[in-house]
Amino acid sequence: VTIVATPVVDRALKALRQAEAAAGVTISMVRDVEAVHQASEVWRKVWERTGDRPVPPEVLRALSHAGNYVGGAYRDGRMIGALLGFYAGQDGVDHAHSHILGVDPDARAGGVGFALKLHQRHWALERGLDRIDWTFDPLVRNNAFFNINKLGCRGVEYHVDFYGEMPDAINGGDRTDRILVEWRLASPEVEMAAAGGAAPAGADIGAWRERGAVVAIEVGAGEEPVLGDDGGDLLLVQVPEDIVALRHQDAAGGQRWRAAVRDVLGGALGRGLEIQGMSRDGWYVLSR
Ligand SMILES: CC(C)(COP(=O)(O)OP(=O)(O)OC[C@H]1O[C@@H](n2cnc3c(N)ncnc32)[C@H](O)[C@@H]1OP(=O)(O)O)[C@@H](O)C(=O)NCCC(=O)NCCS
Repeated sequence: VTIVATPVVDRALKALRQAEAAAGVTISMVRDVEAVHQASEVWRKVWERTGDRPVPPEVLRALSHAGNYVGGAYRDGRMIGALLGFYAGQDGVDHAHSHILGVDPDARAGGVGFALKLHQRHWALERGLDRIDWTFDPLVRNNAFFNINKLGCRGVEYHVDFYGEMPDAINGGDRTDRILVEWRLASPEVEMAAAGGAAPAGADIGAWRERGAVVAIEVGAGEEPVLGDDGGDLLLVQVPEDIVALRHQDAAGGQRWRAAVRDVLGGALGRGLEIQGMSRDGWYVLSR
């Protein structure tokens, strides 16, 4: 690979260093057998799988050896977060696809995930790639907020049951519908987000309502989906605070959420709307 040096790459490195310092971690590429086993173990723990691991160490070793992105976040010599992505492209390599990101439950919400993503962003920009895409479960509010608001991604496609069944603690046996997000690495929004100043397009839902945004789904008093009008081109869709807990307590309730969001969010993305923003209290903002 040719390593490119541009002002954007320089700024990406600066943003990364800042994020590492803020999170109190050092991030490095995962290459040797020991590190590969540690990364695989981080994800096993996060997804609480018994039996097979989300990514077996030998597959990870091969992906790493082939030049793909595997990053590990270390604190006090221990790996507490790991991220895997690989080269992608339908007509030759022009972007990367990110597959799995997990942070040790004891180390969450301290900026470790953010720092890992900035490390991956720098890796990609340095290799001349300006886009990383990945999928996430639209029902998981924390992840949506992280991807869309904190990182500055856009949600562009809806995939029904992307992986088939995944019997782990997070997915809880529900259908694995996913949203594909695109992270435009050198865009102004993403540069701002990387510098820690995410200017959240979706933060102020009141302001969106004033501009004519229509509520298509809202979380009801009993945590159930309340359907509104989803016909327009400026929509608000709210998702529950903690779908993972809800699925555990009430599998049927979790499935009702899946069906409602598939219909409305899947339908809207299908007719060309994009997810523009996400508020902390769980509202997606969709527009053309
Ligand atoms: C998603 C995940 C990787 C984020 O890593 P992290 O180190 O906790 O995230 P950061 O501290 O860098 O960023 C936190 C932001 O992400 C959001 N977030 C996502 N998951 C969160 C969680 N479990 N707890 C708290 N905040 C979470 C918050 O909105 C937070 O924003 P804030 O700091 O402004 O409040 C991590 O929570 C995790 O491993 N989750 C389980 C695995 C998973 O779902 N991975 C898929 C990611 S698409």
